[in-house]
Order: sequence, then C-alpha cells, then structure tokens
Amino acid sequence: MSEEDITAHDTPVTPELGVSPGLGPGPGPGQEALRVEGISKRFGPVTALRDINLHVRAGEVLGLLGDNGAGKSTLIKIITGFHRPDSGRILIGGQEVSLRSVAHARSLGVETVYQDLALVDELPVYLNFFLNKELTVGPFLRHGAMRRQAVDALAEVGINIPSVGAEVRALSGGQRQAIAVARAVNTAAKVLLLDEPLAAMGAREGGQILRLIDRLRQRGDLAIILIAHNYSQVMDVCDRVNLLQHGEITFNRPTAETSVAELLELVHAEYRTA
Ligand SMILES: Nc1ncnc2c1ncn2[C@@H]1O[C@H](COP(=O)(O)OP(=O)(O)O)[C@@H](O)[C@H]1O
Ligand SMILES: [Mg+2]
Repeated sequence: MSEEDITAHDTPVTPELGVSPGLGPGPGPGQEALRVEGISKRFGPVTALRDINLHVRAGEVLGLLGDNGAGKSTLIKIITGFHRPDSGRILIGGQEVSLRSVAHARSLGVETVYQDLALVDELPVYLNFFLNKELTVGPFLRHGAMRRQAVDALAEVGINIPSVGAEVRALSGGQRQAIAVARAVNTAAKVLLLDEPLAAMGAREGGQILRLIDRLRQRGDLAIILIAHNYSQVMDVCDRVNLLQHGEITFNRPTAETSVAELLELVHAEYRTA
C-alpha cells in the first residue's frame, strides 16, 4: 500500500472564506467559532500560559507556532476540556462555556486529534472509525453498516483507503493521520484541533494532510487550529498565524501579511535577547 492511497484531489484555494451556501447547522461561514480570553495556566512553579487571547472563525485555519515548551499542547488541552485554566474565559459560538471534560467539549463541537492519534493498530480501519461508539443491534456489532459508513465518511473528505477492513497497523503515517482526522470531523464538529499532525511525516505525506485540511476549510463550517513546526507548511495552508512564545501569544497576523523569514526572525530575536 503506498502513500498514493490517500487520494489528493487538488482543489483550488479559495481566497474568500466559506463559499458554499446551505452547509446545514453550525456557525455560518466567517462566524466566530471559538474565542479564548485571558487564559492562564500554571503547573506548580511553571507558568505554561499567560493571558492568552485567541479566536478562530468557521472556514478559517489558524496556525499555532511555537518552540517546544511554549505551551501549545497545554492551550489545546484547555480548549478540549482536558485541563482547567486558572483564569480566563472560553466562548464557543459566542457562548461562554465552562468545560468540565473532554466529553463535554466534544458535545459542544470541539474535536481534537492528538499527536498519538488514538488508533488501535490491531483493529481494522472501520472499527477504529467507530471506536467507543460502535453501531450495534442487541449484543451484536453491525459490521456491514460500520464498514459502509466508514467508506462514505472517508470518501467525503477525499481519502481513498483501499480496504476499510485492513488493520490500521498496515497503513502509512499519512493514512493513519487522515483516518484520525476523518473520524474527528465525522461528528457535529465545529472546532477541530490538530496537534502537530505533520510531525512524523515526510514532505509528500505531509502535503496530502495539508490538502485534506484545505478541503475541510472549504466546507466553510469548521474552524481549525493547526499546531505545526514547519513554517512554510503553515504559510501554505493557514489563513492566519499566531506565535506562542514562553506561554504568551506574541504575534497574530494573516499569513498573507507575513512570511517565513519574518516568523523565523521573530523566533531568532527571542534567542538573541535571552
Ligand atoms: N501536566 C503537566 N505538568 C507539569 N508541567 C507541564 C504539564 N504539561 C505541560 N507542562 C509544562 O508546561 C510548559 C508548556 O508545555 P506544552 O504545552 O507541552 O508545550 P508545547 O506543546 O508548546 O511543546 C512546559 O514547560 C511543560 O514542561
Ligand atoms: Mg506539544
């Protein structure tokens, strides 16, 4: 099985946000899906986040850049209901929420794909797709229905896995990532959080995931936060970029109004003055 198995439909990049009307429920294109205000978080003596303000709209991909230890994962874990912030507010679709758990955040439309993907190697693709929400009739698993729905859901996001009956362990890193993303958005997701989806991937597989993210953007109803290390990939796929340095957001600008060189300069300046 090759990397080509993730079908890469090259779709034109639409400069305007959210183009297709009639997308069903959820925030309309361009509407604010998530806002974070004044979030701080300490772990004992470590201040992981300090007065974070961040927002992302439906149909927008926000890139979150920052060195190791900057606080990116902590911020994602707060938005996904895993950690409680020490202070600050979170608004989803304009409503202030107090997230009690990951399940609570999910019920409000916040879905996260973590770095470890949470896939079970020994299970076929379709059972991974329905992990912890298997379709059943009485005591029996509805294998056929789950297979069909997994095929449809993967096709809908433009992923071609030759057989959803294949064990996940047989798949490439890009295919695994694509399955985890497709599973996350096969819900009533309004906000999708991707923690370093490109980390362990070569340029080619990474490109396939970037195209998947671009297709999800074009749905227009989903707000995406993408954590990444590769600045040029962020410039390619994101509408806007935030830089997180030592727990603070130090930069917020549309990607069209910045450059890889400028971002690198900001990060390097940090070391010169340190
Ligand atoms: N559960 C935790 N307990 C203690 N310290 C933590 C915990 N999680 C993160 N930290 C610390 O908070 C800071 C930010 O970490 P993290 O959010 O993982 O950064 P990043 O994802 O940007 O690499 C680091 O100093 C890290 O050691
Ligand atoms: Mg991290």
